[in-house]
This record gives sequence, structure tokens and C-alpha cells, in this order.
Amino acid sequence: MTATEWPPSRPVMGYNTWYQFRTSITESEVVRQAELLVSSGLAAAGYKCVNLDDGWMAAERAAGGELTGDSVKFPHGIRWLADQIHALGLRFGIYTAIGARTCQSLPGSWGHYDQDAKTFATWGADFVKVDDCGGLPASTTVDTLTEYFRQFGACLRRHNPEVVYSQELPIHQIGKPSFRPAVRASAQFADMWRVAHDEYPLTHDDASAMILGHLAADLELHSFAGPGHWNDLDMVAPAFPASGWTLADLRNQLSVWAMEASPLLISADIGALPPAALADLKNPHMIAIDQSGQQCSTVIMNGDIEALMKPDPEGGTAVLFVNVGTEAGTGRFALPAFGITSARATGHNAWTGETTTFGEASVTLEAGQTLLIRIEGG
Ligand code: GLA
Repeated sequence: MTATEWPPSRPVMGYNTWYQFRTSITESEVVRQAELLVSSGLAAAGYKCVNLDDGWMAAERAAGGELTGDSVKFPHGIRWLADQIHALGLRFGIYTAIGARTCQSLPGSWGHYDQDAKTFATWGADFVKVDDCGGLPASTTVDTLTEYFRQFGACLRRHNPEVVYSQELPIHQIGKPSFRPAVRASAQFADMWRVAHDEYPLTHDDASAMILGHLAADLELHSFAGPGHWNDLDMVAPAFPASGWTLADLRNQLSVWAMEASPLLISADIGALPPAALADLKNPHMIAIDQSGQQCSTVIMNGDIEALMKPDPEGGTAVLFVNVGTEAGTGRFALPAFGITSARATGHNAWTGETTTFGEASVTLEAGQTLLIRIEGG
């Protein structure tokens, strides 16, 4: 995404408050995180959209029915906060829910779609996430719910034609026949839509199962992704490193999200990120693979090793090897599988920068481990 392109044709990159701060988010913390995005170089690397998640709003709407910020956590108001974010050269995002309450039982937008869309536009919100937390009429079906999300999107665009509309319609259809239709509909009227559950539990022991589970859910959805339309795998670096994730977990996640062209929204305390994690989040090869905007559509298997591939914008093919088994394993792949006709190929490891040449790709990985590499002929 270029500095000025909005709405972005490439997967949104930025920041979200949820996993790190939950409902304890305050205006001073949001401003601090935004300043850290800039001073850490993350903003220059593309992470430009700062999104408030649940917990920003007052328990009651204002007298005129408008949503209003929690005056203790946000004493200067949300408009002021948006101005601070914009003054840093960043974009500002906000959160609401399709029903009468958010997932934290705060006011949702039911009965107020147009009014809330207008409020968000007046505040200067560039991005709006609409959650699905219930609080809907008992008669609601997947079809009517889809229609509510469509209507809300139309209201958001009426008041701000450049808004990025992020929503969670598909998430409650996961595992049901209605999942794919919900994704198909979302792709018609939203910019991004959640296709996988929240990242809980959030521990090292669960990290690779969660990451590979999200990947499996998303693989078959590649036809819905394209410029301005992304399957959303949820936030990256959730509460890292407090969650107990290792750097390897973070690399696994970023590798998968990049292959899947998912939005990259960091949800951690930027000030607590170790230099190695910051470097990984800014890794230009990973970012280029993500920002190609093209979701991986080709997967081949050898043993327990999956090879996912798509064109790499830096040349050749971006390949993600994944051990989907329960123990260490090796996969062997002949070069024509990567579209290579020469006798030898060169691989560039996206994370270590290491370059190797080989006549066959032979990859040994621990269970749940991944390897992101750019492969080209010769
Ligand atoms: C849901 C969403 C999360 C987050 C929380 C906030 O669980 O899926 O991304 O927004 O609500 O309550």
C-alpha cells in the first residue's frame, strides 16, 4: 500500500487494541501506540491504520441517540483521538456491532446503522469493524443477518465513500453450510471479513494448532480474495510476547498470513516488542508476499509436508512449506512442481536471508513448523 492509497487495494496493515488491552484501552494508550508505530518504523513499513476495538464506547448512548466514547477512558472524545492519529500521518479505525450490544455488552448499532455511520464519518474514521455479538431480533436468519451487514455497509459508504468496511458475518457460520455463502456475500459488499475464530486460547502450546487451523479454514476461499477484498485471519502478534508465543510462533503466523494475503493488524504493546519481533514484523519479503494481494491457490503434499505457492512479487514463486503432521517429517518436491524447468533452483529464506541451491526441494520440519521461501530457477 502506498502512503496515499485509501481505501487500499492491498490487505490493510496496521494496529488493533484488542488482544493487548481489551476493554482497558484509553486514549493516552492509543496515542502512545500510534506514536510507537511511527518511531519503531512499523508505520513506514506499511502498518498505518490504528484501530480501536471493543470497549471504547460509553455504556449509554447520548441524549440524541449518538454513540459516544467512554468519558473516563477517552476524556477528549473520539474525534480528538482521530485527529491525533491523523496528525501522525496514520489512519483511524473504530469498532461496533451489528446487533444491540458488542461482545462486551456495550451499545451496538442495531436500530442506529445510519446514525452511527454518520457519527463515525464525522469523527473521521477511515476504517470500521462491525462485529456479530447477538442482540438481534429472534427472527434473524443468516439471510436477514447478511442483509443487515449489507445495509450497514451501504450506510458507511454513504457517509464516507472511502471507508474500509471490515466485518464478522462469516465467523458464526464456520463449520456450517452457510459459511461459504456468507463469505461470498461478504466479498460483494465488504473490504475484509473474518473467516476464522478468535485466537483463543492464546498460549505457546496452542499457537501452531491455531495458526494451521486458520490456514486450513482459509485455503479453499482464495477465489473470494483480490484487490480490495480480503479473507481476514484475525490479528497478528496477539499480545506478543506476554502471551508466551515464541519468535518461531510469530514467524509461523506471519508466514501463513502473508501467503493468504490476510490483513496484518498488530495487536500487541509495540513498546514491549523485542527488536527481533519488530524486525520480523517489518520483514520486507514477508510484507511483499502479503501485499501482492493474491491469496495462495495451489497446494501440494508430500508426506506430512504441505507446499503452498503463489507468484512472488520479487520474482519466482513464494513457497510456504508446512508440517501439518504430529511429528517431525520430510517432504520432497521436484522442481517442475514450482514451475521450474531448469535442473537447479535457488531458494531465498524470507526470514534468515539464507540462499541455497538444489535440484529437488527436500524440507525437514518439526510438527507445526513452517518455512517461507522464494524459489526461482537457476
Ligand atoms: C469478538 C471479535 C474480536 C473482538 C471481540 C471484542 O470476539 O471476534 O475480534 O472484536 O469480539 O469484544
